[in-house]
Amino acid sequence: MKQVIGLLGCGTVGGGVDAIAMAREDLTVKKILLLYPQPGTEGRDVYDFAEIENDPEITVVAEAMGGVEPAFTYASRALKAGKHFVTANKALIAAKGAELAKLAVENGVSLRCTAAVGGGIPWLTNLTRCRRLDTIRSVRGIMNGTTNFIMNAMHTQEVSFDDVLKKAQSLGYAEANPSADIDGWDTQRKIILSAGAAFDKFAAEAEVDTFGIRNVTAMDVKAFQSLGYVCKLVAVAKDGGDGLVAYVEPTLLGASELEAAVPSNFNLITYDAEYFGVQSFYGQGAGRFPTAANVVQDILDLADCKPGFYTDKLAPAKVCNDKEAHPYYVRTTLDAWSDKAATKGDGWIITEPIAVSEMHAWAKKAMKDDPALFFAGIQ
Ligand SMILES: NC(=O)c1ccc[n+]([C@@H]2O[C@H](COP(=O)([O-])OP(=O)(O)OC[C@H]3O[C@@H](n4cnc5c(N)ncnc54)[C@H](OP(=O)(O)O)[C@@H]3O)[C@@H](O)[C@H]2O)c1
Repeated sequence: MKQVIGLLGCGTVGGGVDAIAMAREDLTVKKILLLYPQPGTEGRDVYDFAEIENDPEITVVAEAMGGVEPAFTYASRALKAGKHFVTANKALIAAKGAELAKLAVENGVSLRCTAAVGGGIPWLTNLTRCRRLDTIRSVRGIMNGTTNFIMNAMHTQEVSFDDVLKKAQSLGYAEANPSADIDGWDTQRKIILSAGAAFDKFAAEAEVDTFGIRNVTAMDVKAFQSLGYVCKLVAVAKDGGDGLVAYVEPTLLGASELEAAVPSNFNLITYDAEYFGVQSFYGQGAGRFPTAANVVQDILDLADCKPGFYTDKLAPAKVCNDKEAHPYYVRTTLDAWSDKAATKGDGWIITEPIAVSEMHAWAKKAMKDDPALFFAGIQ
């Protein structure tokens, strides 16, 4: 069956979707919602979403604008109009996923968002496929290419955080405002989407303990290496019974671990399930064609009558990180954790196991007095 698409936004990802679709006979991008006229879209460009919403020929709306609004309004209207909705937009799904999933179910259509986690990696597709048969114990991984690029460079070259960040920006891996990447917010959204698909539990962004790599220094990296560790920004989620364990933090990994070996701006995302055991998915977490290709794969899956990722069982869940504990590397000028120090170094300590919620709550407060402090979980 030919899929007739209404495309929202025609930038990096949207332009890629249009180019891939154009080369296929089973896909037509009939209308493209734009803010301003754009070369290559003539005759298909529209400036009012109603033109897509009210077009009975359009069966799928593919969104690649970014942001929560107006994407949420358009998504709701598309689903209510009986159109499938496919998106690469993790900000939209992290903020409004539960509402959109409900609307999709109510209207007998599907919501898919493979490209929103891991860009070009078929992660959510395989996670949901695993889950229909198996029980997932945990999901985790390196879900942000920019931070992996930075951490990888700091471990393999003698470079400062600021210099690598500038290089990442010059290569187009990091935004001019890098906060979403280096402070962990992008990764936080991706673990929320993954946990929703794995456990039917949807966490509120504000509840997911998140600490990024903004404060990591070359001296920290020397200390990690002297201890035999490699540091990566890792997200973790587990079904916590009544609630959900979910957090994002710099993590020290044994140098022989798979995650420790992830190079450049690649991602590695893993589930651990009862029958399948541990399976990992590796690849480009961003970029025009890898990401656009996953948007198109979702559209093709819809043509094959594959369901959406989120069911009507998806429900908001409390994050409960108080029973999840491990040792931490902590570098601070404050007199802290000395009663829990297992190893002491030059300005840093390794603690005994501390609950994730306790460490993150401490850091949030302590940053007021020591804004340069850094910590990393040890797993
Ligand atoms: N780039 C990647 O590698 C990647 C990877 C994974 C996921 N994603 C996700 O994909 C989405 C798109 O990212 P992108 O990199 O393609 O961004 P982008 O290059 O900035 O493209 C977004 C496009 O949407 C247009 N737009 C914004 N608001 C609009 C509106 N209200 N109506 C119509 N068009 C509108 C923008 O127009 P103007 O330029 O005129 O503002 C721009 O052309 C985001 O949610 C992002 O998180 C991107």
